[in-house]
Amino acid sequence: ETPAMETIVTLCKRRGFVFQSSDIYGGYNGFFDYGPLGVEVKKNIKDAWWRDMVHRRDDVVGLDSSIIMHPNIWKASGHVGGFSDPMVDCKESKLRYRADQLFWAAVVVGDETIGYVSVLEDGEMEAEAQKQADSMKRKLAKQGEMAPLQLLDYTEATPDLYEKIPSPATGKPGSLTAPRDFNLMFETKVGPLADSTAVAYLRPETAQGIFANYKNIVDTGRVKMPFGIAQIGKAFRNEITPRNFIFRSREFEQMEMEFFIEPGEESRLKWYRYWLDWCTDWLVSIGIDRDMISEDVHPEDKLSHYSKGTTDLMFKFPHGVQELWGIACRGCFDLTQHQEHSGKSMEFFDQDRKDRGEEPFKYIPHVVEPALGVDRTFLAVLTAAYTEDEIPNDKGKPEKRSLLKFHPRIAPYKAAVFPLVKNKPELLERARGLFEKLQRRWSVAWDVSGAIGRRYRRQDEIGTPYCITVDFDTIEKDGTVTIRDRDTTEQKRLSEDEVIAFLSEKIDV
Ligand code: GAP
Repeated sequence: ETPAMETIVTLCKRRGFVFQSSDIYGGYNGFFDYGPLGVEVKKNIKDAWWRDMVHRRDDVVGLDSSIIMHPNIWKASGHVGGFSDPMVDCKESKLRYRADQLFWAAVVVGDETIGYVSVLEDGEMEAEAQKQADSMKRKLAKQGEMAPLQLLDYTEATPDLYEKIPSPATGKPGSLTAPRDFNLMFETKVGPLADSTAVAYLRPETAQGIFANYKNIVDTGRVKMPFGIAQIGKAFRNEITPRNFIFRSREFEQMEMEFFIEPGEESRLKWYRYWLDWCTDWLVSIGIDRDMISEDVHPEDKLSHYSKGTTDLMFKFPHGVQELWGIACRGCFDLTQHQEHSGKSMEFFDQDRKDRGEEPFKYIPHVVEPALGVDRTFLAVLTAAYTEDEIPNDKGKPEKRSLLKFHPRIAPYKAAVFPLVKNKPELLERARGLFEKLQRRWSVAWDVSGAIGRRYRRQDEIGTPYCITVDFDTIEKDGTVTIRDRDTTEQKRLSEDEVIAFLSEKIDV
């Protein structure tokens, strides 16, 4: 069962995974800070992606481009004119909403429309709309059957309805404006002159840094078609309504890869399917159940300005099934635009095709792009890992516990080492020795305080997959330690060398 967002947010704060940015100043909407455990999980997600996407492939290379780039890049890419969301203002409260996250419905009793209700997109919105409609019917003392509510987003309202749909802030009809386009790019100024020529943008996607460097990489990298360029880095969007914790924020991180292919429908379809499957398998490899992932194919009329086909991998987040990973066929849109705006040729000279006598052997490659958010992946792995179960306590009585079933690749600590008791120097020293040996390779926790059962529970809650206890048998008998599995709570005895081999088999997959 998917946990409630509240459960995840509270756990994140209590155990130091994620904090609201600028907390001591009352918080800053749309920005988040990752605490001691969160930064480990985030780094593990990025490292796993980089290893699988770049190191373990011989057709993808990496890049780290700058966040602020020549403003013409964003003109060429279409972001200056086109990167916007429809926005609605509440004239009274001055609050702003993204029109496609603001849902409304007509309340029809019998044959009569008695009014309208509005809700913001979240997991409970149907129930909330129904509650408002019931209360409206009661207040107006209307008799008769209510028709089922049909929730539509605000962009689907007609101008005469803008006057009638209530603002979610005030509940009053007539306080909302018509939707208008709002550009999502953050502007800044570069250099000492504060005139319009100094305007620059914080990148809203890492992708353009890749397209802008495509020529550099082709000229220097000895790459062969097809090939990919991957990048991990911050992106910024002045989101109208940052909502749902780290799902949609104003500063976030992306892991994007542009895969350059030969033009043509056959190659496009082949690689489109290939990357969809690769991405799904990768999510499974970091601990997300396959049945929590689904595919959402964008209808043609909803495609972005650059796309010839997009499928989102959807995940069952606490607030509903939502986009996690977008896989888009960008055609040759970006490279053609950059060729036009920069005057530099973006053609690829395909020696293999020339050798095979195939025409054309000079062309602008097409692109399939898997674009994933690090923070959204973080929320997905936390949601998938959160579990509540019952296990026997020290006295054998069943006790509720909450645990994070992180994949060992993603867990902030790979193992915890405990000396059974803390007042026995020999035991302590032996445990510390093992701890330091493990620390050289992995991030490992050390805990000496409290009963063993309580120490286990603390580690379960933060998702440590293995707890290793050094006890009297270790120092007095055979040198073995106990290693306990977080999910099954089963324990076995292993020698110290066997522990290292065991952990490495589980973690370094
Ligand atoms: N280069 C294509 C591109 O940027 P996108 O669908 O706008 O496409 C890609 O973004 C991914 O980045 C999304 O699937 C999501 O995981 C993440 N993302 C986008 N906007 C975000 C936001 N405001 N907060 C957190 N993650 C976001």
